[in-house]
Amino acid sequence: MRAAVDGTRSVLLVCLGNICRSPMAEGVLRARAADVGLALHIDSAGTAGYHIGQPPDARAIRVARAHGTPIDQQRARQVDRRDFERFDLILAADASNLRDLQALRPASATARVALLLEWAGLGEGGEVPDPYYGRIEDFEQVHALLDRACRRITARLLGVAECEGFADAGSQHGSW
Ligand code: 4NP
Repeated sequence: MRAAVDGTRSVLLVCLGNICRSPMAEGVLRARAADVGLALHIDSAGTAGYHIGQPPDARAIRVARAHGTPIDQQRARQVDRRDFERFDLILAADASNLRDLQALRPASATARVALLLEWAGLGEGGEVPDPYYGRIEDFEQVHALLDRACRRITARLLGVAECEGFADAGSQHGSW
C-alpha cells in the first residue's frame, strides 16, 4: 500500500472493530481528499478481529450515506503487522487503539503512528468516542467530528494552513 513508486502517501485509519469509527473516517477522508484533488491511498482496519469480513454497522452506513461519504462497499479487516511498512501514517481513533497498535508494531515499522484527533491538531490526547453502544445521534456526532478532523488532516497533508474550505486548518505544515 505504501506507494513508493508514484509518491502517493498512504493513511490507515484504525479503531477497535472496523465497523463504526474507522470506516466512517475512511469514507470522510476519501471525500475530503477528493475535494481538494489530493491523491492518497486510504484504508481502515480494526485492532480486534470480531467483525472480519463484515460490512460497516448499519447506522454508520446510513449516516455516512446521508453525508455523501458512502462506506457500503467496505469490509472489516484486522490490522496486520505488515501494515506498519505498507502505510506512511496510521491513525488511531482512541488511546486504547493506539496502545494496541504500539504493542503490535514490529521493529521494522516505518509508519508514523498517532492519535487521529491529535494528528489533526484537535487537541492532545483527543479520542473519537465509540458510538457502537450508542444511538444514531452518536454516529452523527462522530461523523461530524471526523469530518472536522479529516479537513485538517487533508490540509496538513497538502502542506497548507489555509486553502478554500480549510480556513480553520491551523498552522501545521508539511512533514509527517
Ligand atoms: P468501532 O466500534 O471500534 O468504532 O468499529 C466497535 C465495534 C464493535 C465492537 C466494539 C466497538 N464490538 O465490541 O464488537
